[in-house]
Amino acid sequence: MSAFTKNILVTGGAGFIGSHLVRYFVNKYPDYKIINLDLLTYAGNLENLKGIEDAPNYEFVKADITNIDEIRNIFTSYNIDHVIHLAAESHVDRSIENPLSFITTNITGTAILLIAAREHWGDFKDKRFYHVSTDEVYGSLGAEGFFYEDTSYDPRSPYSASKASSDHLVRAFNHTYGMPVVISNCSNNYGPYQFPEKLIPLMVNNILHKKNLPVYGDGTNVRDWLWVGDHVTAIDTIFHNGKDGETYNIGGENELQNIELVHMLCDLMDEKLEQPVGSSRNLITFVTDRLGHDARYAIDATKLKKELNWEPSIQPNEGMSKTIDWYLDNTEWLENVTSGKYQEYYEAAYGNRDLV
Ligand code: NAD
Ligand code: DAU
Repeated sequence: MSAFTKNILVTGGAGFIGSHLVRYFVNKYPDYKIINLDLLTYAGNLENLKGIEDAPNYEFVKADITNIDEIRNIFTSYNIDHVIHLAAESHVDRSIENPLSFITTNITGTAILLIAAREHWGDFKDKRFYHVSTDEVYGSLGAEGFFYEDTSYDPRSPYSASKASSDHLVRAFNHTYGMPVVISNCSNNYGPYQFPEKLIPLMVNNILHKKNLPVYGDGTNVRDWLWVGDHVTAIDTIFHNGKDGETYNIGGENELQNIELVHMLCDLMDEKLEQPVGSSRNLITFVTDRLGHDARYAIDATKLKKELNWEPSIQPNEGMSKTIDWYLDNTEWLENVTSGKYQEYYEAAYGNRDLV
């Protein structure tokens, strides 16, 4: 008999959000065994999990969700009874450069996890497949309105189309086979350990190195920002209390135009680096827009708040300041992850655009 009450397979647990989630679950639930499955692509890094490697309820397995034999073996070896699925190719710009890897990882990978779970679980008693998804599946908003759980899907980038497809597969396994599933669609996360190809850590890293700050288009695109720790508490809440077959939107109601956010980061960086006001803003460079750039995302998270009593804990001013402090205290991490494979990709994809 296992000493653990649940054996939870977390996929993508060495990435940005996954590493926060794994750390939180390992510390909060000593009676759950957390099996962290990650391929350690350029975006996955065991440094993100420092401090919990030796916890008795934690284990890391390097594996590829697109390899059905490996995944079947893991379900059997660890007697997995719950899945929290985060592994994905996650960067929109990369999906525009190379859509196929997004289709393989995000669609085929999710299908393989569902197939292996169904084979291993049999009658589905006391099982749950939690799929972590994005607000980008809903498409793009004009100046008004919000994304609700019943907003029609309208994905517009290869990334969001691959995530939408994976959401449909998860719902299909619920409808067809009765698999107990739950899905959440979350807005843009920020915080420590985010790979510096995404807007916030890219800007912080570039300011540190006095490089240009590339703002796509005119900078008026709007994103709805959520502290990564609040995404994790939302996942915890939904994992334990969400209803089978349901979808929950997660967001912090913190809309900012990209240029407003970049100004906020510049001003905070000037203050923290004790440099003259305006030094960082001078680095802002408007560059060619992202192809098919979605104008605005905004999540309505009323269902999660009302039905499951979740609330975000911090607002962007405080969260951005905490985030910047973390990157300033962890410049070695930034250097490690921006070297090697990432640099090679970066040069091939972006040539002379001096970003990092
Ligand atoms: P990330 O890119 O930081 O991490 C992804 C992780 O998946 C990495 O550790 C990578 O090594 C792993 N991975 C990739 N391919 C794999 C494969 N074939 N097999 C096993 N592991 C593989 O991503 P993130 O920002 O932490 O996002 C995690 C999840 O949350 C994704 O599903 C993403 O779509 C979703 N999401 C992200 C955000 C956001 O703002 N970052 C918002 C909403 C939803
Ligand atoms: O909405 C949730 C999604 O948020 C997640 O599903 C994705 O995994 C995650 O990467 C994120 O997608 P975005 O495309 O919104 O994030 P990104 O940080 O790449 O870009 C944020 C905004 O900033 C977007 O409007 C594009 C713009 N941008 C981005 C970069 C990297 C710039 O202006 N300059 C840049 O250099």
